[in-house]
Amino acid sequence: MSFTHLVPCIVFVFALPVFAQDELPPGAGKVVFRRMCTQCHGVEGIVRSKMSKDRWATVVDDMLSRGAKGTDEEIDQVVEYLATNFSRKLNVNKATASDFTALGLTEDEAQAIIRFRVEKGSVKSFDELVQTPGVPAAKLTALKARLEF
Ligand code: HEC
Repeated sequence: MSFTHLVPCIVFVFALPVFAQDELPPGAGKVVFRRMCTQCHGVEGIVRSKMSKDRWATVVDDMLSRGAKGTDEEIDQVVEYLATNFSRKLNVNKATASDFTALGLTEDEAQAIIRFRVEKGSVKSFDELVQTPGVPAAKLTALKARLEF
């Protein structure tokens, strides 16, 4: 194989890790997350973990004690980013009212979703869910990545 054939292979191999990092889901906290959380270890172990927001907050506290650095605002952003993208998803059709309120919906909104779910038999998609009367679409959209059907 000539050198000119080899060059694209080399470029490809070196491009891979960069590509893998760019697979991180988009979001306000992505840049902060990458800066704060990738100096000591890769992201694979992090993104494979699925945890609730409380658990992520505990992990981030633990990492701060190990030397991770960030302002209070950055810490909040990272916890939010992790909780949004790397949480066990909540099944809208099985969730209880308190599961919904744990995500930041009010008790009335949680009950509205449960009523809507019962009326419909089941909620099959996010597009159906946003039609729930009495629950602001913007609030549901913010939770979209944390829900499954
Ligand atoms: C200063 C170095 C450092 C930084 C920065 C850092 N970590 Fe860690 N992290 C560690 C070490 C060391 C371990 C291994 C701990 C162990 O094996 O007990 C670890 C382990 C972990 C684990 C696996 C924990 C477990 O209980 O299995 C997760 C998840 C994690 N880090 C997430 C994060 C996140 C999220 C951030 C950014 C907020 C971060 N790390 C930043 C040093 C760091």
